Amino acid sequence: MSLPVILDCDPGHDDVFALWFGAGHPALDLRAVTTVGGNVPLEFTQYNARVALTVAGVLDVPVAAGASGPLERVLQTAEWIHGANGLGGPELPEPEVPLDARSATELMADTLLEASEPVAIVATGPITNVAVLLRDRPDLVGRIREVVWMGGSTERGNATPYAEFNALVDPEALDLVVRSGVPFTMVGLNVTHTALVTTEVRERVVALGSRTGAFGDELFEFFCRTNHEVFGMPEGPLHDPVAVAVLADPGCVRTVRTRLDIELAGTETAGATSVDFDGMLDREANADIAVGLDVPRFWDALELALTRLA
Ligand code: BDR
Ligand code: CA
Repeated sequence: MSLPVILDCDPGHDDVFALWFGAGHPALDLRAVTTVGGNVPLEFTQYNARVALTVAGVLDVPVAAGASGPLERVLQTAEWIHGANGLGGPELPEPEVPLDARSATELMADTLLEASEPVAIVATGPITNVAVLLRDRPDLVGRIREVVWMGGSTERGNATPYAEFNALVDPEALDLVVRSGVPFTMVGLNVTHTALVTTEVRERVVALGSRTGAFGDELFEFFCRTNHEVFGMPEGPLHDPVAVAVLADPGCVRTVRTRLDIELAGTETAGATSVDFDGMLDREANADIAVGLDVPRFWDALELALTRLA
């Protein structure tokens, strides 16, 4: 039995691999894809999600557009990593997957209502769409098995000294989701910075000999270059698929249950994720925090998913 999943994303190079991971892994049943303004504006992210599924030959999963920006703030984007259209590098084919007429919230709601069991949500961008769902449809909370989110950090940030990009873009949405009581896992930079696109990883993806593998390597080429230029990391960290791994192969990721709070008001630290490993604040634990990744096992799981795509 595979686990029903909704993937909420802002593609983005690493989001594409998260989509492919979710669509291809036998432990997962990708029921819906929702998109949000994040790495680039929504008009690009919804298009890129449909391109990614088209390349992989996954034409039967609905894709909807959601929030064009954060709940309360002005959208900040990351063209410096992902390029002007969000998927710098390869030439993009015309998507064969249509844009669903429903909003992201409507598609999520329908997917939850149609499922005979609770559905997991993986979010790999600013978590605005999930916050809107929880705010507007509290009646559906019991149908959500859990939310696994790529974002935050137990250490320092990558968009400001103390904030990771997805957290920085919409900290109010993140705060709403964390406070909602839905089981929540944070997969932050402290772990995703170990999922490095090494030469060996690239060789394995090319060796698939598939359309997905060839397109994926063009994404890697661009993503590794920008990560080198911006962060001095020649082997780009493939953040978003690590959140999918939590569901596809839970043994990949070690987590610790503790207290997570979101900085909303800091003049220099908005979007910082405060993880109270030592119980200093004496507050109730409210999140599972990823603290370790079995890196070879992670790449094996992602590769398995890719082998099942076009
Ligand atoms: C996160 O920010 C985005 O640029 C990536 O797609 C990932 O979701 C990493 O900080
Ligand atoms: Ca992302």
